[in-house]
Amino acid sequence: MHTEGEAPRSATSTLESAPGGASPVRPRRGDVVASYDLGVEAYETRWSAVILPGATALLRELAVADGDTVLDVGAGTGAVAELIRDQVPGAAVLAVDASSQMLGVAHRQRGFPAVQADAMALPVAEGAADAVVLAYVLFHLADPSAAIREAARALRPGGCVGTVTWVSERNERAQDVWAEALADAGVPTLPARRVDTGLDSAPGVERLLADEGLVPVRSWIVTLRHQWDREAFWALATGSGVNRRRLAQIDPEARAALLVRSRALLDELAPEDFAWSGEVLCAVAAKPDDSVREVA
Ligand SMILES: C[S@@+](CC[C@H](N)C(=O)[O-])C[C@H]1O[C@@H](n2cnc3c(N)ncnc32)[C@H](O)[C@@H]1O
Repeated sequence: MHTEGEAPRSATSTLESAPGGASPVRPRRGDVVASYDLGVEAYETRWSAVILPGATALLRELAVADGDTVLDVGAGTGAVAELIRDQVPGAAVLAVDASSQMLGVAHRQRGFPAVQADAMALPVAEGAADAVVLAYVLFHLADPSAAIREAARALRPGGCVGTVTWVSERNERAQDVWAEALADAGVPTLPARRVDTGLDSAPGVERLLADEGLVPVRSWIVTLRHQWDREAFWALATGSGVNRRRLAQIDPEARAALLVRSRALLDELAPEDFAWSGEVLCAVAAKPDDSVREVA
């Protein structure tokens, strides 16, 4: 299962080039935010916990300390911010996200200070943060380099940025059946909201970080697994923002028929057809501290 919409992949590991030399088409913020705004409940109740172990692994390496200021960029509903608060109650976490609806959960339900802003233009002063987290957001951006540049600007010397991006996903049979049902019913696809090119390998991400003056500390892969129960799968399939937007493109009668037909197909599947797995890349990089180098 993925809730990110179509995710074209290429064999290249740089952001600058794709096969044939063409630039990969990057997502547009409006498309991305429109889907998140519409799918908050499904994201928060069905998907967030599935991908959270990637951020858990990242935070272990990021070593946030009491008194630190942490920017959670692309914070969404604040699940990662909550992890930080649980582990380091003395840290101050600011949630930044472009989706007002996602951010509303982080602020109203989880109580985090929240700022609606673009990851590529952070509303904070230079050097204001001890750590910046970019969990599951770089692949949504028109220019991931700009977000890393902003994270580097926001960090104090010696501070660290941590990123989580997708390496691969093994779609469960149920996801294929659902996707085929939508295609058979002629449901139009949407523009890409997630493009992993250049972000799906350690060399690609390390280069991105190094190009913005950061020093890669560690990159590693974490495998995620989830066994869906039928109802949860259905709730996410029909409730994710991207699928709600897709389904809204066909008339109500056709939509109702599609839902009945696809549900019947899914009901025929075995439990193992609902087993999902994916791999994510965690990376940590530090902002050089020139004062330390001069003293040494
Ligand atoms: C997959 S969610 C990740 C949420 C959270 N980091 C987590 O791990 O649970 C991606 C988030 O990135 C946000 N996002 C997408 N494009 C953004 C942009 N240009 N600036 C800031 N946030 C953005 C979305 O609104 C969404 O909340």
